[in-house]
Amino acid sequence: MIYRKIAIILTVPVLAAVVALTMNRASSELPVWSPSGGQQAAEAGARQADSVLILVNKRLPLSADHEPGDLVVPDIPFTFEGDHEKKHLRRPAARAAESLFAAAKKEGIELFGVSGYRSYKTQNWLWKYNVKKKGESAASRYNAFPGMSEHQTGLALDVTSKSAEYSLTVRFGNTEEGIWLANNAHRFGFIVRYPQGKESITGYAYEPWHIRYVGVEAARTIHDRKLTLEEWADSAVPAGNFEFFPFNLF
Ligand code: DAL
Ligand code: ZN
Repeated sequence: MIYRKIAIILTVPVLAAVVALTMNRASSELPVWSPSGGQQAAEAGARQADSVLILVNKRLPLSADHEPGDLVVPDIPFTFEGDHEKKHLRRPAARAAESLFAAAKKEGIELFGVSGYRSYKTQNWLWKYNVKKKGESAASRYNAFPGMSEHQTGLALDVTSKSAEYSLTVRFGNTEEGIWLANNAHRFGFIVRYPQGKESITGYAYEPWHIRYVGVEAARTIHDRKLTLEEWADSAVPAGNFEFFPFNLF
């Protein structure tokens, strides 16, 4: 009898913990968009469109005519040949991508660029194409509405590898190249912008292929503290004291 009592006493909290963990996991997978999303930081200072720290997401869009003035083609291998808008990046991101890809190659890791800068017009076409293909709710987990893609900033780059069949797939995250990228991108000023389990904060599902240039300092903090750009931006704002906002953040 005493053993039955002990068994019940031990089983109940274990079952409760399993149920709580399962519920937690289910809710973290819902494509819910957070009410903050870096809004606090954005409200604290005027957003500077040419800052490498600019925050673009489902709450903070760019204007249709936003086009960076310093787009160049980085000297990195791409998955396709020829001239194309999507080969471009803003100059600081392009130089950093060259260093990142060269460092990877030195370690036997071969990375390929897939897509960098996209104009508003291209994003508009892409959004409509994806909505037609997958429906709006599925598309919105991976594809940005025109004006809401950070590819329009010229600071984002989609990356793949031969082991991921040169495509943009979550499988890339488990390849040697994807793991190397996640562990090393910050050394060159890039972050994996849409990490696993952060959809409620970033507004997008896990994209191990999408890296974003933010500069070495921010990238290091974001990587080491396992943050998103939204969380980092909000944490950089001193609570309740916007007047003394110390950084030239946007
Ligand atoms: N895939 C990202 C969210 C974009 O379309 O900008
Ligand atoms: Zn991307």
